[in-house]
Order: sequence, then structure tokens, then C-alpha cells
Amino acid sequence: MLIRDTITEDLPAILDIHNDAIRNTTAIWDETEVGLDERMDWLAGRLTAGYPVLTAVVDGSVAGYASYAQWRPKSGYRLTVEHSVYVSDEFHRRGIATALLTELIERARTAGIHALVGVIESRNTTSIALHEKFGFVTVGQMPEVGIKFDEWLDLTLMQLTL
Ligand SMILES: CC(C)(COP(=O)(O)OP(=O)(O)OC[C@H]1O[C@@H](n2cnc3c(N)ncnc32)[C@H](O)[C@@H]1OP(=O)(O)O)[C@@H](O)C(=O)NCCC(=O)NCCS
Repeated sequence: MLIRDTITEDLPAILDIHNDAIRNTTAIWDETEVGLDERMDWLAGRLTAGYPVLTAVVDGSVAGYASYAQWRPKSGYRLTVEHSVYVSDEFHRRGIATALLTELIERARTAGIHALVGVIESRNTTSIALHEKFGFVTVGQMPEVGIKFDEWLDLTLMQLTL
């Protein structure tokens, strides 16, 4: 497995992972799939702002990706980021999210980031377990702040202070 900076050629595979999460999960609280243009703008925006976008490659295939950006827009939040990590279904449970998050946290440390925030749907016990493994602690619970598939969604906020 290789963890490297994302390149434009990764975007069709990243788009598939992203749209699969929109279609089938409550990990992303969007209900409309996006096109390649949206992912191109996303990558360009992140890179222009100086934020990392990482891709995990297994046997030449994109298996997952991870990134972060400023938690909230006001300047006082500039050293706090919200991150995300997504792994394609067929590559789950092979340590890929662990490798992505390890590198992402290292990038954050090098960039002088002070805190990472994971914004997780409360029933996503897999993601919560992943974050606990890295020392993230639950700092907030927000009941019924989202809606998808005709159900209320609760939010769990997990923080790692570097
Ligand atoms: C959450 C996700 C990124 C984990 O990716 P992964 O590559 O399968 O994770 P890893 O193999 O690195 O596992 C890391 C840890 O996560 C937890 N975990 C992973 N899969 C799990 C499962 N099926 N059940 C319970 N815990 C699980 C474990 O703590 C595991 O550590 P361990 O293997 O030492 O027990 C992946 O399931 C995913 O992409 N889910 C959909 C999108 C999503 O929820 N993203 C996070 C949004 S906040």
C-alpha cells in the first residue's frame, strides 16, 4: 500500500467512493451525487489553500482518500481542521484508513495545526472506533441535527489536540 498526495488522475475513483457514500450511507449528509467537476474544484480548492489531500493506492488502484480543511471559516479557527477519511468497500478492514489517518495527522503536525475534529454520524461505530484508536475523544453529541433516508441523524464530534 502506498499513501501519496492526490493527483488529478485519482479523481474518477475518488468520485466513485464519494458518490457511493452519498447513495448508500449516512457518512455524508448529502443526497445528490456530484460530478467530476465538483471533485476537481474540491481538489483544487484544498491544494490552493495549502491543505493535504492523500490517496491510498493498493496494487495500482485507488483504495481510499483523506483530507482536511479549516473547521470553520472565521480566522480564529485557522489552527483547527475538520478531516475526512473514506475507503472503498472492497478494501475495508485492511488498515487503509489507519495508514491514511497516520499520514494526515503527521501532515497536520508539520503544518502547525493544533486540533483535528472528526464530525461523525453517531451510529457510525466503525469510524468512532477508528478515531478512538488514534486518541480522539468525544467532545460533543448533537441529537437530530441531520436528516437522510427519512430518519433523524445525530452527530458525534471527536477531537484530537496535537
Ligand atoms: C471508517 C472507514 C474509513 C474505516 O476504514 P478501514 O480502512 O476499513 O479501517 P482500518 O482497516 O484501518 O481499521 C481501523 C480501525 O477501525 C475500526 N474498524 C474498522 N472496520 C471496522 C468494523 N467493521 N467494525 C468495527 N470496527 C472497525 C477498528 O478499530 C480498526 O482497528 P483494528 O483493525 O486495529 O481493530 C471505512 O469503514 C469507511 O470508509 N467507511 C465509510 C465512510 C466513513 O464512515 N468515513 C468516516 C466518516 S467520519
